[in-house]
Amino acid sequence: MKNTLFTIIMMLAFAGCTNKEQTATNITPVPQKVETGNGVFTADRSTVIVVNAGNEDYDRLHKALQPLGLQTADKVTDNCILAQISKEVTHPEGYRITTDRNGIKISAATGAGLFYGVQTVLQQCAGGSGMPYGTITDEPRFAYRGIMLDVSRHFFGKEFIKKQIDAMAAYKLNRLHLHLTDAAGWRVEIKQYPRLTQFAAWRKQPVWKDWWNDKREYAEEGSSDAHGGYLTQDEIRELAAYAAERYITIIPEIEMPAHSEEVLTAYPELSCTHEPYKQADFCVGNEKTFEFLQNVLDEITELFPSEYIHIGGDEAGKASWPSCPLCRKRMHDEGMQDVNELQSYLIHRIEKYLNGKGRQIIGWDEILDGGLAPNATVMSWRGTEGGIKAVEAGHKAIMSPGTHCYLDQYQDAPHTQPEAIGGYLPLKKVYSYDPIPDSIAADKRHLIYGVQGNLWAEYIPTAKHAEYMLYPRLLAIAEVAWSNPEVKNYKDFRRRALQENMRLRNRGYNSFDLSGEVGNRPEAEHTSNHIARGKQVVYAKGSPYYPGYAASGKGALTDGEHGSWNNNDGVWQGFIGRGGIDVTIDLEQQKQIKSISATFMQLCNPGIFHPAEVTISASCDSITFEELAHIEHTVVRDDTLSFKKYGWQGNTKARYIRYKAQRSNFGGFMFTDEIEVY
Ligand code: ACM
Repeated sequence: MKNTLFTIIMMLAFAGCTNKEQTATNITPVPQKVETGNGVFTADRSTVIVVNAGNEDYDRLHKALQPLGLQTADKVTDNCILAQISKEVTHPEGYRITTDRNGIKISAATGAGLFYGVQTVLQQCAGGSGMPYGTITDEPRFAYRGIMLDVSRHFFGKEFIKKQIDAMAAYKLNRLHLHLTDAAGWRVEIKQYPRLTQFAAWRKQPVWKDWWNDKREYAEEGSSDAHGGYLTQDEIRELAAYAAERYITIIPEIEMPAHSEEVLTAYPELSCTHEPYKQADFCVGNEKTFEFLQNVLDEITELFPSEYIHIGGDEAGKASWPSCPLCRKRMHDEGMQDVNELQSYLIHRIEKYLNGKGRQIIGWDEILDGGLAPNATVMSWRGTEGGIKAVEAGHKAIMSPGTHCYLDQYQDAPHTQPEAIGGYLPLKKVYSYDPIPDSIAADKRHLIYGVQGNLWAEYIPTAKHAEYMLYPRLLAIAEVAWSNPEVKNYKDFRRRALQENMRLRNRGYNSFDLSGEVGNRPEAEHTSNHIARGKQVVYAKGSPYYPGYAASGKGALTDGEHGSWNNNDGVWQGFIGRGGIDVTIDLEQQKQIKSISATFMQLCNPGIFHPAEVTISASCDSITFEELAHIEHTVVRDDTLSFKKYGWQGNTKARYIRYKAQRSNFGGFMFTDEIEVY
């Protein structure tokens, strides 16, 4: 068995092997290549740590190795854990670990590579296991491996951020994007603009949802009804240094031109109408806006050494711009055709300013609208299209699509979970993500800079809850970002995630208990082979489905597929018109029919309600229909996700089935996934 080559997939095939060989798989993210021999090195009291690296790395690596509780030494001995800079490894973040009876040798080209090797050793040795003899050769798939924390919607302070940095480092993540500014609160001290933290960092309600549903008022710092907070400049410096010690870069996000209600209430002269509490978008026609943003960025770049500064750019309403004299003048002077170009003008100018300071910008994918700034990196969140466009135009892209990377969605069956923003994003789905879309040409793939998990915090009122949403999904992001698809395997990952989750809990992280996972809506897990499956559905003229919730289109209601807990999963079909639902299914020949039913979803926040009335009828000739059932239901508004089946059971013969549903007085959408006929 000596020097047998194991890929992780082979290791799974060797499930019956001795413990020694299996232990090599306990590492998350899974390494690219593991070769094990017979034997395990276990440190004892005389094992020493030797670090051969430059000053800064030397200190960082000694600190990182401290959990092993060993003495340090200057010289290599025959019972030693050695971390050394070496030209043998070429990838700037890669490492190699060789283990034999004399100890563990970690080699890397850089301090970062050594640090990741150390994390592998720490994980492998956690709980008293030793390091199997052999070699681990590892390097990341992506250079950018990120997590975003939204500290605006609810403020989570320095200690919380440090704790998450510790976990990120353990799983080889290397970018922490802080969403520092948004309507709900400005979270970074800016000396030139004290009102941002004396006022715009505080609000009347501690919980975002209460504040959002009330008057969205800010409060004076120190007043009895002020809730919120901010990071002082000293705290930011401390955080940046803390992250750097763990080879993590903090990327600050300063939102512009939108999501800026808090700024424009503190400094209303920067909005088009100069009225507090009225605008979310900066006035792009006003030079004072640029003066403000540049002054803020001067302080931000002093505080954060990151090469990249995130400038937001998402979801600008642009509503005040067309009627604002200064914006109109700017558009006229610059020969602009539409307001998208005005947004693009701001982003271009800010990019130029930051480039002049040696920094680069990242923006959400809306920065593509109106023309991308020449050096910008795009963070693709509305699916992957923005990332693909950016890459095709020769720009870098970071993939963080809502479908796979928005960690504010439910991670398990919603009825078992605390309130979340919606959706359904279990560990398995995060893990399944491949940041390189198939459609990208081979010569552009290197432009996919990496991947990021985003924790938006509208529905996350406490730090404890934030951890609950982050873990263990952060581990899946880490493995998507680090490990090549060939070595990934969900079953094996889940086993490791359960183990890591326990360790996280032991270290005081309030992670979701993966061992109790309920899973997807059971109906969504299989295809129904009913007699209308694959049959044509005709939508009556006044009752089309809503294009934004088309599911698979005309065939969606008879494709045999059932929706998940997520209304936006591409399986649920939505109807919003007054005509409700009125569809006729042609079974192609007369059939004996015993039941007809459809299940509806209700989720009141995005405006999805159960029907108030359903009528089911059948016909042999498509002209004369016999009514089989008329069902009425009193729709009640509530906070929970619910499902209700409206159906008929009996015995009839028919070729055509007509299913009609009417909305309640709440209006909004009706969502159904399948009309099942048996
Ligand atoms: C975003 O989710 N608005 C970037």
